[in-house]
Amino acid sequence: MLAACLAAPVAFAQDQQAAPAPAATTGVGTAPDGSKTEGGQAATKDDLGKYTLEDGRPTYHITNDGTMDWFTYSGYRRYHAECHVCHGPDGMGSSYAPALANSLKTMTYEEFTETVVNGKQNVGHGTADQVMPAFGQNLNVMCYLDDLYIYLKARADGALGRERPSKREDKTKAYGANENQCFGRPN
Ligand code: HEC
Repeated sequence: MLAACLAAPVAFAQDQQAAPAPAATTGVGTAPDGSKTEGGQAATKDDLGKYTLEDGRPTYHITNDGTMDWFTYSGYRRYHAECHVCHGPDGMGSSYAPALANSLKTMTYEEFTETVVNGKQNVGHGTADQVMPAFGQNLNVMCYLDDLYIYLKARADGALGRERPSKREDKTKAYGANENQCFGRPN
């Protein structure tokens, strides 16, 4: 089942090899539809409820009244279930692990997913005994890799503050079906 979860990011990474490497960050901007997106770029929504930039990277989408896309909201919840113990609430960091709301200012999507899947040790932030675990076998993280990236990117770009998210888009049927497939649950 894990293979099914990883299929999307892996295929994405292959697609990207041909294209020029996108800039790691541009900060938040106002998109043509008036919402907040990365660099104000137009973002397309798929049937999962996921927004994607023209270069294929997943992204956040927050409307004028603060309504966030489902992935940003889901990423917020998953982050606070799986990552905040070490990385601090709202991606702010702790004495143990770096502030991911900072890391994602320069980290690319590929670098992020690679780090979460395979872990990282002592590469500039932690000390020898401060280790980023490999989450490649943990479905509670792998099934939500894009959600986590999208939430943390929104934090890094300044599109999302430290407030608890309130308004959000609904979870789509397709998202629920995908989630069940990722966990090997019947639909
Ligand atoms: C057991 C503690 C722990 C947990 C839980 C944890 N991390 Fe980490 N993480 C670390 C440490 C420590 C580092 C720094 C490693 C280093 O640079 O040597 C790190 C580094 C990272 C980095 C690289 C940051 C940079 O600036 O290079 C990313 C990305 C990351 N973690 C994402 C996550 C995500 C997403 C989750 C939740 C799914 C998570 N981590 C859960 C401890 C943790």
